[in-house]
Amino acid sequence: MKLKSKLVISFCIIMFVPILLAFLVIAAFFKVQWQMIAQNIEVMPDMRMLFLEIVSSVILVLFLTAAMLMVWIYQSMVTPIRKLQSAAENIKEGNLDFSIDVDGAEQDEMNELCVTFEEMRRRLKENAEEKIRTEKESRDLVSNIAHDLKTPITAVKGYAEGIIDGVANTPEKIDKYVRTIYSKANEMDTLINELTLYSKIDTNKIPYNFAKINVEQYFADCIEEIGVDLETRGIGLAYYNYTERDVVIIADPEQLRRVVNNIVGNSVKYMNKANGFINVRIKDVGDFIQVEIEDNGRGIPQKDLPYIFDRFYRGDVSRNSATGGSGIGLSIVKKIIEDHGGKIWATSKEGTGTIMYFVIRKYQEVPNE
Ligand SMILES: Nc1ncnc2c1ncn2[C@@H]1O[C@H](COP(=O)(O)OP(=O)(O)OP(=O)(O)O)[C@@H](O)[C@H]1O
Ligand SMILES: [Mg+2]
Repeated sequence: MKLKSKLVISFCIIMFVPILLAFLVIAAFFKVQWQMIAQNIEVMPDMRMLFLEIVSSVILVLFLTAAMLMVWIYQSMVTPIRKLQSAAENIKEGNLDFSIDVDGAEQDEMNELCVTFEEMRRRLKENAEEKIRTEKESRDLVSNIAHDLKTPITAVKGYAEGIIDGVANTPEKIDKYVRTIYSKANEMDTLINELTLYSKIDTNKIPYNFAKINVEQYFADCIEEIGVDLETRGIGLAYYNYTERDVVIIADPEQLRRVVNNIVGNSVKYMNKANGFINVRIKDVGDFIQVEIEDNGRGIPQKDLPYIFDRFYRGDVSRNSATGGSGIGLSIVKKIIEDHGGKIWATSKEGTGTIMYFVIRKYQEVPNE
């Protein structure tokens, strides 16, 4: 019952009970007096006693009524206040692992306050958990970046020392060392670019330059570029385009390249076979084009598959520590594909290989009437 209703009921009872009792006493008094006058009798001492008893009973009834009303209102206020007080105490101590049990049958303001307080506690708990998770992610990111940067930096130092100390004593050797230093510097540059992009993803500030892209031409160029790199690593590459020649998509060419490079980069990174190969297929699936990138690498365990697109998720960390990486590659890829209105998913078999799929909507010319 609402507090207002309780107060109105109490007010009515406090007002009407004395009036009713007074009315009964006066009525009784007049009745007795009228009988005595009618019978011409004097007021007897017994009668005085009787009136005294009636008056004291009335006072007792009033007292009991007032006390009961007080207990009723006090109870309905104090129980929830105590709950709230202990909840506030818990929150002050930083403990959010409790719950305020709310009496579902009661519908008063105090109960509503308890419900709101419980909701506030739940949200505070969620925020606290989210904060712990983000802090852990940031810590992991810092240690992963340190790991990722350390590998190329060690190589750069080693090769530079080789040149300084004269270990590279022929022009060919010097050339090889300088080229390695250059490629390691490029690796670091890519990593730093990825991190910059990652911070932009967080604030939704990726600068997209959307353009009409011819699918056949774009992917042919892309594959040619990748092919050179894969050849040096001894990984085979096959490319099949099943779309019509004039299919066009609206996409940011630079970001789409980042997507392909990232997926192929993973295929290379997690390749565990001597005769590694990567198959790229472009298919026409109605309103979309579907890109499939298949590798015969080590595959992804079923338990990891649902999470690989999550930020900072890295499959079996102990196995992956050798490969380096922060677990942000595929989360960036997913964000880019979704910003293009597409979808990305993967299938994989541990030990056999992985297929990454993504779809991007085709551009369709609106015909002029
Ligand atoms: N082609 C693949 N073969 C096997 N495992 C893969 C493949 N692609 C992704 N994975 C798994 O998915 C996880 C997440 O990939 P993601 O690209 O997001 O991170 P990463 O490669 O570990 O680090 P980063 O890309 O940031 O350098 C990887 O750690 C790996 O376990
Ligand atoms: Mg990766």
